[in-house]
Amino acid sequence: MHDIVQDYYGRQLKSSSDLKTDACCDASAIPNWLKPLLANIHPEVLSRYYGCGLVCPPLLEGCRVLDLGCGSGRDVYLLSQLVGASGEVVGVDMTEEQLQVANQHLNYHVDKFGFNNVTFLHGYIEQLEELNLEPGSFDVIVSNCVVNLSTDKGAVLRGLHRLLKEGGEFYFSDVYADRRIPDALRTDPELVGECLGGALYWNDFLALTESSGFRDSRLMESRPLEVTNPALSARSGSVRYYSATYRLFKLAQLEKDCEDYGQAVVYKGSIPGSPHEFILDERHIIEKGRVFPVCGNTWRMLSETRMGPHFDFIGDFSQHFGLFPGCGREIPFLDGQRQSDGASKQCC
Ligand SMILES: C[S@@+](CC[C@H](N)C(=O)[O-])C[C@H]1O[C@@H](n2cnc3c(N)ncnc32)[C@H](O)[C@@H]1O
Repeated sequence: MHDIVQDYYGRQLKSSSDLKTDACCDASAIPNWLKPLLANIHPEVLSRYYGCGLVCPPLLEGCRVLDLGCGSGRDVYLLSQLVGASGEVVGVDMTEEQLQVANQHLNYHVDKFGFNNVTFLHGYIEQLEELNLEPGSFDVIVSNCVVNLSTDKGAVLRGLHRLLKEGGEFYFSDVYADRRIPDALRTDPELVGECLGGALYWNDFLALTESSGFRDSRLMESRPLEVTNPALSARSGSVRYYSATYRLFKLAQLEKDCEDYGQAVVYKGSIPGSPHEFILDERHIIEKGRVFPVCGNTWRMLSETRMGPHFDFIGDFSQHFGLFPGCGREIPFLDGQRQSDGASKQCC
């Protein structure tokens, strides 16, 4: 699998336009505030972008960030500007040709930005412990269309969990499938190289995050992918693929489900670029000044992370009111009304 991927990204692909899906070609998805930063990046680096989403969470200034499978460095150079001179970005990739392009343009970006806060490392994301990076030393870890290519996704998640600080997050875009992908497709070199063959069934992904130490994964955005190459599309049959961006917080006290403790938060409107509302995830769009009821997990994601100073917090964990309405899973038991109308007599 590593050889197939290194050959695909090191030798076969020359630019984003060689890809056979629309995974990384959604130019409209780049927000206006990022466009000037993208314009500072060397054209060759931009042309070799093979990501499938945007991995730029807010509040990065001064952060230490790790990019898993950084390729030729587009996101590293974007993040370098966002963390600024007091922050640091480390990119890791296993394909020499990709890193060569990234390193070749290092001085170009140092001159443009006026500081050097970037390092590229050669290595495997399943073996992060080999890279001598200090455990618990990263505020944010990102990855753009890479985890699907990994031969041991559990090792990747466990390894990066170890490198994150408590309160840090893994913010990443990847490809998922609507079902478990049949073996014949999982080993098809072209489908693997195009980030389709190795895509996880979304529900297996959620189970894997839990067993790797992350609870309550939050979806930022998703979109269906179109396989634009007719031969690949035919081979894929009925499998549907999606590109999705998730954020996984390293917070030891997160619970499996969203529990209701009667808490609420108020956004101060102070996060740069988000004066009117803050988007924690696709289901939590928090307007400035509004008392916004939250579950215990959301409370911790906001209060025990770098977002904390930008919110006021109402309540505590002293009283529990059951599952948070509409957020956790619905209560599986029939209520008294329905039990007495005969439904309870049916077994199984
Ligand atoms: C689809 S490209 C994405 C590159 C980059 N993130 C971007 O957005 O342009 C996948 C990259 O992940 C790297 N990669 C795949 N599997 C890897 C692994 N197990 N360890 C390290 N790098 C890996 C490949 O070498 C390739 O550069």
